[in-house]
Parts: sequence; structure tokens; C-alpha cells
Amino acid sequence: MTATSTPRSGPAAGRDLIVRVEDVTKSFGDVRALDGVSLGFEPGIVYGLLGPNGAGKTTLIRVLTTLLPPDTGTVEVAGVDVVADGTAARGRIGLAGQFAVVDEYLTGRENVVMVGRLYGLGRAEARRRADDVLERIGLHQDAGRRVSTYSGGMRRRLDLAASLVGRPQVMFLDEPTTGIDPRNRMGLWELIKDLVETGTTVLLTTQYLEEADQLADRIGVIDHGRIITEGTADELKDHFGGSVIELGTEDDQMATAARVLAELTGEEPIRDQARRRLRVPARDGAQTLVAAVRALDDAGVVPTDLALHKPTLDDVFLALTADEDASPDVGPAAGGSTGPSAGAGHGSEGR
Ligand SMILES: Nc1ncnc2c1ncn2[C@@H]1O[C@H](COP(=O)(O)OP(=O)(O)OP(=O)(O)O)[C@@H](O)[C@H]1O
Ligand SMILES: [Mg+2]
Repeated sequence: MTATSTPRSGPAAGRDLIVRVEDVTKSFGDVRALDGVSLGFEPGIVYGLLGPNGAGKTTLIRVLTTLLPPDTGTVEVAGVDVVADGTAARGRIGLAGQFAVVDEYLTGRENVVMVGRLYGLGRAEARRRADDVLERIGLHQDAGRRVSTYSGGMRRRLDLAASLVGRPQVMFLDEPTTGIDPRNRMGLWELIKDLVETGTTVLLTTQYLEEADQLADRIGVIDHGRIITEGTADELKDHFGGSVIELGTEDDQMATAARVLAELTGEEPIRDQARRRLRVPARDGAQTLVAAVRALDDAGVVPTDLALHKPTLDDVFLALTADEDASPDVGPAAGGSTGPSAGAGHGSEGR
């Protein structure tokens, strides 16, 4: 376990890191929310933190943003020890939390201007920047209305606008696009890309693999309070293998189909019980697919559909987090999914 939870060689080994987390633990009673997390990355990138509900993402963000002291370990942001010098750290960071924090009785624009003033901007500058972020986030038409009349997605966007107005050195975004409709989600992606181009480093958490794929230069997968693997989107996909067989079956044939595919590939398929789908790495691509068709036919399994596709980050994520006992020692090595997969349950009742 420790092998993958300490910084490996490469970016985390030293040098010019804007975020450095070393062996951080945090428990709430019996729950070990962070269990020896280490990660580090250089300025100017988007770092994506992926993990199922209860993995420890929000807890790590709270530690990084001085809202929660770690039990053990060290945390540095922009060269400042956040535990020893929270005030200096807060001057360098921005945070948009998982739940929107805005003042109901002010208008959208007033909220953003107020936050800009808190960041120390002059009145005119705060107004100018507020209008800029409100426009980019698609709220300019509603900016004059009281927040009490906003929808949930509008509040999320307003919260994000407020956290962007100060142009922080490091921006922490906890599930920035949850609850935001697809068009505005893409607008937000553009905004985050712009932000990085203008010199802000971003750490974001997400449940959307596509989002990490689009935005993140580097991805860390966290589960049960530990970083279980790290790499670029392409590296993570490569480690999963060349391609993936995806298969739909009738309910009563799912177990047989899973057994056949496991025997054929040596990998336990990822099961999506609700949608009656199985996915398994196909090392030899189309050849594996043909062999799978024969073996399934021999076993009397009639798939409702069957396809070969490139692995997505979903495949990687599910393979890494599906099994409670998945050994992190496997890390980014071939396969990723070891041992019997008991289904897609992530074994946590949320936050
Ligand atoms: N204040 C708290 N008191 C008790 N337990 C907590 C507290 N905050 C977090 N936890 C627990 O710590 C674990 C990690 O929670 P955390 O909120 O960091 O998960 P997360 O990865 O952000 O999940 P989600 O995707 O649901 O937002 C969970 O088991 C959660 O119940
Ligand atoms: Mg969370």
C-alpha cells in the first residue's frame, strides 16, 4: 500500500511544486477519511482528483484550503505550509466548494463584487472583474436579480464566479459542474481552461470521467482515503489495455457471461448489474472479441449487444475502485482489476 501512496519519482519528487501533500491522514471517529495521501504537482496545470462517494476528495480539499487541520502529514500550497500559516495560504488560494455559499438577499452581481472586495480589489476593479466572470459563466443576464430567485444550477455557477473573481494562484474546485446542465458545463470547462492560461493552477474533483479527460493534465484516483493510481488520462487508459469488450445480456445470463469472459481474458469483468452490462479488457482487440463470441455461443449466452471500444476513463476508474480489496500494489500496472469483483458498489454511504 505504501508503495503507491508515497510520491514516486517525477513531479512529486521535489522541485517546483505548487501543491505538495505528504502522508496526510485525517480521521473522523472511526472513519479514516484520509489514510496517508501523498501527491504533488507543478504550477500551470489542472490536476483532477477522481473518486467515488466518500473517497476523501472533499476532506482533502478542506485540508488543502486550511478549513480542516490534518491529523498528521504536511501540506504546502504555493510554497506556504497551510497548517503553520493558514492566513498566508488563504491569500493564495480560491475555493469553490461542493455546496454553494452565497448570500440570498444580495443580487448575483453584488455577491461577486463583495467577494472581489474581500480579496482586496478596489471598487471599480471588483465591478469590472465581476462583470467579466459573470459574463463568462453565463449569468450576466440574471446578475441583477436576488439570489433567492436563482435555480440550483445558477447558484453553483454564481459560487464559482465568486471564487474566480480574485484570480487566485491556486484554485480548488470541488465538483465544479455537478448539477449544471450540459451547455453550461462546457462553458465552465472553457472558463477553467482560460483560468489556467492566465496562470492559475487548478485542482478539481469530479465524478465525471469525461471532465477529467477534457481538463486534467494529471489525474489522481482516490479511494478509501488513498491515492490508488496517478497519471495522465492516456497513461491510465493505456494501463487498462488496448481495448474493451462491452456486452449486454439478459438478467439470467449475466453470471454465465461474466464467467465465460473471465475464463477467456483472465480478468474479472466489471459488472453494471442495474443496466445488465459487463466490460472486460480485450488485450488482443478484435481477436479477443471473436473468441468471446465463440465462447459465449458455446455457453448458450445470447448477448443483447456486444461491442469493442477504446477504454474510457470510466473503465479505468471502475476497474480500480470496483473491488474493495483491490490491491493498490497493482497500481497502474496491467489489468488493474484483480480478484473477484463483487459488483459496482463503492461501499460507502456518501459523505
Ligand atoms: N465532518 C465529518 N464527520 C464525520 N465523518 C466525515 C466528516 N466529513 C467527512 N466524513 C467521512 O469521511 C469520508 C470521506 O468523505 P468526503 O466528504 O471527503 O468524501 P468525498 O470523496 O468528497 O465524497 P463525495 O463524492 O460524496 O463528495 C466519508 O466516509 C465521510 O462520511
Ligand atoms: Mg465531496
